[in-house]
Amino acid sequence: MKSFVFENPTKLIFGQGEIRQLTAEANKLGKRVLLLYGGGSIKRNGVYDDVMKALREAGAEVWELSGVDPNPRISTVRKGAELCRENGIDWVLAVGGGSVLDCGKAIAAAAVYEGDFWDVVSRKRSAQGALPLGTVLTLAATGSEMNTNSVITNEETQEKLGWSSYHVYPRFSILDPAYTASVPKDQTVYGIVDMMSHVFEQYFHHDAMTPVQDGFCEAILRAIVRTAPELMQDLENVELRETILYCGTMALNGVLSMGVTGDWANHDMEHAVSAVYDIPHGGGLAILFPHWMDLAVEKHPERFAQLAVNVFGVDPDGKNTLEVGREGIEELREFWRQIGAPTRLGDYGIDDSKLVIMAGKATAAGPRGRYVTLTLEDVAEIYRKAL
Ligand code: NZQ
Ligand code: ZN
Repeated sequence: MKSFVFENPTKLIFGQGEIRQLTAEANKLGKRVLLLYGGGSIKRNGVYDDVMKALREAGAEVWELSGVDPNPRISTVRKGAELCRENGIDWVLAVGGGSVLDCGKAIAAAAVYEGDFWDVVSRKRSAQGALPLGTVLTLAATGSEMNTNSVITNEETQEKLGWSSYHVYPRFSILDPAYTASVPKDQTVYGIVDMMSHVFEQYFHHDAMTPVQDGFCEAILRAIVRTAPELMQDLENVELRETILYCGTMALNGVLSMGVTGDWANHDMEHAVSAVYDIPHGGGLAILFPHWMDLAVEKHPERFAQLAVNVFGVDPDGKNTLEVGREGIEELREFWRQIGAPTRLGDYGIDDSKLVIMAGKATAAGPRGRYVTLTLEDVAEIYRKAL
């Protein structure tokens, strides 16, 4: 494995009823808080009331910004940053799924940034600091609750880009599995696909001697493969939700990438699709990843064979490495199909009219992927196969 530094300062507060710890955390960060949330799910499932109660007990003065869209927008970031500056906000509390958390990171950093924050999102400049951020997660998917990433869409230029800064590690994240029990079936599936994709992005690497990292990845994938079908039949089962919630956090909090360089081309390809068509991130990944795997297994079949055997229980007897690897990919396709994930871009009404535009966006910073290098043409071909 490679040399690495691991530092993750987020305080993870996990478990049913642990929202009670919000009061103590709020007391540490200041009295003036911007409460950020999405389209209203937190009002329907009672999370809003729990949060407000805890903030009241902390004596906090609360400003609210609601309506953060899935695939959050730079216009909302600008609005939130302005609110923070005008009102001398001390800290930001993001309550919702990955979109609200990502938007909260951007607002926290934009509030102290001089200039146009899109320059930071597009990585022309770095964040100069950030207001403290706390989160209450309500959807298991992105890992945003315990990482430095934020993905923001510029609706005018149809760009969706990820940026990252140490400054936006959440100071604390509260994860109550019961809060995720109201997530509808489609979003539950997207979340499961997303967290599995995060594991895949880090599992497919060329670094040698990584048995512990491999084992962590495989354990998370196995847990998801065992739990998800049951959860699909019993969406309000909090114990199953708990396993999935924990998997989502562990899949993208830096633990899996210690000492390895992951691939990440599928995320770039998907972000280009959802920039142009505004589709759910997990839905796009479910469609694209198997096609990338079809291409990658032909070049480097070994890790695919390992995945097939260790996660999907493929019997390798009498088969060569490539055959075993391919069988694992078919198992994954079947698993995602069974839980109800989309399989074709056409499922979202996407045709071939913008394939090259999307491939250009995906490869704007150069060829993508570290396990397999993809040119613009390779990406366009994957999109074409996924139609
Ligand atoms: O807006 P509300 O009303 O809250 O409804 C949301 C939204 O419509 C709903 N929802 C969330 N929690 C719920 C709930 N509905 C009922 N009950 C609950 N408890 O779910 C819908 C989708 O929410 P969203 O936050 O968009 O989903 P997700 O968590 O999948 O986040 C997706 C965004 O994260 C980015 C994606 O690109 C996308 O923009 N990503 C962020 C990453 C990161 N920060 O590390 C990594 C990922 O790879 C990803 O790119
Ligand atoms: Zn993702």
